[in-house]
Order: sequence, then C-alpha cells, then structure tokens
Amino acid sequence: MSKRVYIHTVGCQMNVLDSEMVIADLKRHGYSVVDSPKNADCVLYNTCSIREHAEEKVYSSLGKLRQAKERNPQKTIGVMGCMAQKDQEIVFKRAPYVDLVVGPGQLHTIPNLLQKIEKGEGRQMAVSLSRTDGSQTVIARSHETFDPLRDPAMRPTPFQAYLRIQIGCDKFCTYCVVPNTRGPEQGRPPEQVISEARILAEQGCREITLLGQTVNSYRFKQDDRTTDFSGLLEQLHEIDGIDRIKFVTNYPKDMTERLLTTVRDLPKCSPYLHVPLQSGSDAVLKRMKRGYTVGDYMEMFERIERILPEASVSSDFIVGFCGETEEEFQMSVRLVERCRFKNSFIFQYSERPGTTAAKRYPDDVPREVKLRRNNELLEVQDRLAKEDNLKMVGSVVEVLVEGPSKVGKKSDPNAHVVQMTGRTKCDRIVAFDGNRRQAGQFLNVKVDDASCHTLIGRVQTVDVVSIGAPALS
Ligand code: 5AD
Ligand code: SF4
Repeated sequence: MSKRVYIHTVGCQMNVLDSEMVIADLKRHGYSVVDSPKNADCVLYNTCSIREHAEEKVYSSLGKLRQAKERNPQKTIGVMGCMAQKDQEIVFKRAPYVDLVVGPGQLHTIPNLLQKIEKGEGRQMAVSLSRTDGSQTVIARSHETFDPLRDPAMRPTPFQAYLRIQIGCDKFCTYCVVPNTRGPEQGRPPEQVISEARILAEQGCREITLLGQTVNSYRFKQDDRTTDFSGLLEQLHEIDGIDRIKFVTNYPKDMTERLLTTVRDLPKCSPYLHVPLQSGSDAVLKRMKRGYTVGDYMEMFERIERILPEASVSSDFIVGFCGETEEEFQMSVRLVERCRFKNSFIFQYSERPGTTAAKRYPDDVPREVKLRRNNELLEVQDRLAKEDNLKMVGSVVEVLVEGPSKVGKKSDPNAHVVQMTGRTKCDRIVAFDGNRRQAGQFLNVKVDDASCHTLIGRVQTVDVVSIGAPALS
C-alpha cells in the first residue's frame, strides 16, 4: 500500500505553492494524499515565522500530535517552511517527537530524508545557510527554488495557479524575518518561468499569479542581457490559454513608469496592485528601514492614478511598531483616508528574534494599544472600501468564477442554484446566484449591492452584454 501523507499549510501564498510542489514530488515517490492527520503515515506542517502568533499555533498543533506518535512511533512528523529554517534544532527541543525539519530552500530533500527516517537513520534536518555563513554565492546556492512539477489536483481550483518568479528578499526591513528565512533575492530564469506558464496553460489554467516577496523588483541577468519584470510580463502575455496575469507583492520604489505602462498596454495584466505602505509616518518608515518616504509613496500613488486610473491598490500596515506614537499612528489613518485602498491587511507588530528591530528598538507599544490601533485603522479602511464598492452598484464587471461561496458550501450539495463567488480583474470578490458548472468561466455580473469586502450581483444575460454594457474592472 502506498504511504499516506497529510500536509497542513499556514502563511503566505509562497507556502501554498511550496506545499503544492512538495506534494507533487511525494506523489511521484509513491505517496497518496489524505485529508486528516489521523489517517496519515506522514504528517507535514508547512510553517510561517512572520509573527509570533503563527509560530505558537504550530507548536500547539504539534503538541496535539504527541499522543498519536506515542501510539504509533512509525508515524513521521515533519516541520517545513520558515519556522523550520528559523528555529532549526529548537523545533526538536520544543517538540521532541518531530522527525524532520526542512527549510524552504531545501524542500527537494524531503523524499530522500523521509526514506532515511524510514530506514531507521533517526531525525533528519535540512536547512539553508544563514545570511552571514559564507560568501554571497554560497549562501544563495543553499536557498534553492523548488518548482519541479505542477499538480492541478493540489490547487484550490485547477484554472488558477501561483507561479514563482523570485525567491528571497534583500530589502531587510528591520521588523522582518523573511530575508533570513528565505535567503537572498534571486530571480528565476525567464525561460523556466515561461515554460512553467506554458505547462499551466496546457493544464487548463487561465489565471496565473506571479509570486515574489518584491515581485516588481524582479531581474534576471544572463551574459549581457537583463530581463526585468516588464520584460517578463511581455513574454508571459504571449502565451495562449492564459487570460489573466496577476502579481504579488510589490515594493513601492520599483513601481516604475515603465512597469505601469506595460500593465496598461497588456490587456491580460491585472491592474490590481498590492503595494504595502506599512506606515504613514516618515519617522516610522525610517525605523522600519523601508527605503522610501511617505512623499515617495504618494508620488508612486499619483503615477498609478495617472497611468492606470482603473487600478485597485491595496496595502499592508503594521501598527504599534517600536516607538510608534499616537501622532505617528494617526498619520497612517490619514494615508488610508487619502489613498482609499481597495483593502489593507493590518498587523500588530510582533518582535522577531534576529531582526534589526529586535536588536535595536524596544517593543514598547502596549498590547492593548496595538489592538486599539488595529481596530481603528481597520474601521476606517472598511468604511471607505464599502463606500467605494457601493459606487460600483449598477455597473457590469467581468468575473472569473472560482466556486461556491462559503455560505453556499453549507447549503444542499444537490441544489441547482448556489451562491457562487469569483474575482474581477482588479481582485474584487463578487458573489452571485449561479451553479457549480460555472467555475472556471468568465462571466459578466451586474452589481446590485456591496459590502466592504464583496460585491453582490446577478449574472448578465448574453443579450444585455451584447448591447454594449461596459465591462468595468
Ligand atoms: N510584525 C507584524 N507584521 C509583520 N509583517 C512582516 N513582519 C512583521 C512583524 N514582525 C507584515 C508586513 C508585511 C506582511 C506580509 O506582514 O506588513 O507586508
Ligand atoms: Fe520583509 Fe521588507 Fe522583504 Fe517584504 S520587502 S519580505 S517586509 S524584508
């Protein structure tokens, strides 16, 4: 009987993609996938280190596996991803029944290490070098991108896929662990990216989302030829079958005139721009070492408004960063009011060991102040997003249908009419009454109502579309 693997994934899109790759690899090595840790011979946790809370949740889930391991010592337990890279031996100390620790730059070693564990060779660990453990080249080589096989069965929907174009990060924002856990920034060769996109198109994938920590900083140098992000988008745009190209996450300084005009001139490119601002205060941005001022960000924002007036822009904010005063926090509120982001992801600062902020600045904003600032900023963000979404009532949007909405899933699985959801080109979520067969189709939906996160509408009949209702984003 084939070995059964269960994988639990937390964290960012990069982790979702890493899990897809690891599973594709394990299937090639004879494993089958199961949907509960109980029935699995091998349980893998793909982990995140960005905030302490994410790590504590993993350690607490691992704690629950202790008894299962005592009952069945043959069950293999593995920890992969950023927390594995950051904690290394500490994982074995905190959870002694873990057999395997693998960093995100060493995922290709998993099948071989599992075999060693099976043969009785004991615990295994594969991690990359830290940023001070050798020359640039040697460190970079120890962080390998892992993109061997695409497995449509492992994706939430077969017609959408993540596609990695870059690993690592060299920005070293003072609060962030990513440059340590995922290593130096490295662009993948354009030929590899293009050939993977072709494979995805052949598998029926219609929308790709390009992934990188600072995706728009992408560069690949080969001999005397350099491909930048705009050049890569132009090549991807040629691929038949791919109808939408999205990309996350962007770095404000690299949102150039050239990139924005490229997005404007290539109809398949989504004018959805996630460009984290992090704080509306220059002093805080300086402590964060983000490399730009609020003025620089606003210049970029106005460039987006001028070149891509239909774009939707979203942001990330950290509240309660070291030394953040009330006045500095209020500057973030004013920026949310000024920019009217489509959405903002708001995080309370969490001190991360090994980062510059942890070494240099005390984590001095009290927990309850962080929570209050989080709620206040979210309240402003949601109020403005709802106002802007309501302005779309009456318009027609083109939606790539993803599947039944969460509410719909609870309803009768045999029901003919279910609530379906999809996304517009600008990444707005749209809910409408439809049927399951519509998943994967592009449909025009007329917007009737809206909340801060969702547009609610009705599928347009062909007649209405043909008389020329304009399809907005
Ligand atoms: N504490 C809180 N939020 C953080 N982020 C990154 N590091 C931290 C941290 N130490 C947030 C940033 C980033 C998003 C992915 O997570 O806003 O853009
Ligand atoms: Fe972290 Fe800054 Fe790199 Fe984003 S750009 S991954 S926040 S170091």
